[in-house]
Amino acid sequence: MSELQFSRHRRLRHTENLRGLVRETYLHKEDLIYPIFVVEGENIKNPVASMPEVFHLSLDLLIAEMQEVVDLGIKSVIVFGVPANKDELGTEAYHDNGIVQKAIKVIKESFPELVVIADTCLCQYTSHGHCGIVEEGQVLNDPTLDLLARTAISQAKAGADIIAPSNMMDGFVAAIRYGLDEAGFHHIPIMSYAVKYSSAFYGPFRDAAHSSPQFGDRKTYQMDPANRAEALREAESDILEGADFLIVKPALSYMDIIRDVKNNYNVPVVAYNVSGEYSMVKAAAANGWINEKEIVQEMLIGMKRAGVDLIITYFAKDVARWLSK
Ligand code: PBG
Repeated sequence: MSELQFSRHRRLRHTENLRGLVRETYLHKEDLIYPIFVVEGENIKNPVASMPEVFHLSLDLLIAEMQEVVDLGIKSVIVFGVPANKDELGTEAYHDNGIVQKAIKVIKESFPELVVIADTCLCQYTSHGHCGIVEEGQVLNDPTLDLLARTAISQAKAGADIIAPSNMMDGFVAAIRYGLDEAGFHHIPIMSYAVKYSSAFYGPFRDAAHSSPQFGDRKTYQMDPANRAEALREAESDILEGADFLIVKPALSYMDIIRDVKNNYNVPVVAYNVSGEYSMVKAAAANGWINEKEIVQEMLIGMKRAGVDLIITYFAKDVARWLSK
């Protein structure tokens, strides 16, 4: 017996199979939700400059893209619309023939099994780029709720399986739940962007979705990155209003928040691995500074370890490919 007393942690790390036996967290294809951007027009597959390998797709090219997603074993997509026309009230968001509504119909027709999530917000559709009705430079809360409920109902009518409101008006889950129920959509779940920070990490998405605010910022409705207790207040109210899933967004700089939400609520928790988190990795990888595959898997496993059940990520197709090998 040696005199020196210490623990031998390396015993369990000796071989790959041994490490496999004691591995605590796994990433599965079922964890992945793939975001897509749909546009009006034909034969359009326009690259988003700030997001390599992300495209604006017209509806005629959507089927091929969804076929690839389904073949890779991905079970769910979240749809973002980039409308041809914007106006003060974001009417394209709740038009039965809006771009998202049409895209949902096209997808569900060919892939009824694929879980289609509709992002429910107004900012891509409003001329001022804010997520609500604007009057005298202020984003109005209560009048916006009706438009959100109308948007959610039209998306459910089009065949959306899940409504994901991202707009951060107070009461948005209550208003949408009420609207969906009234319209006979009791069975459609709400995946609420409950904890959504006002983040610079959304920069590339706003390029992609043409949704930058034309004046001011989103700080009166999205959360201050410095706050933790407030995240639980946001999650609490959304649960009380009827949210079936809770999203924390962004993911990487908010792992503590993910764990807090997981520890406090027993609904599925979702991380949104946002555009800035994606583009930073892509830029560094393009320069040969990091190993993209290993970095991405480490990031996503970190989110799972922090407590999420599902991850919305632009890397979903790559990850699904890696998991197949
Ligand atoms: C719409 C919305 C945004 C994102 C998802 N839904 C942008 C924003 O709030 O400004 C960001 C997603 C990403 O960065 O990948 N409100």
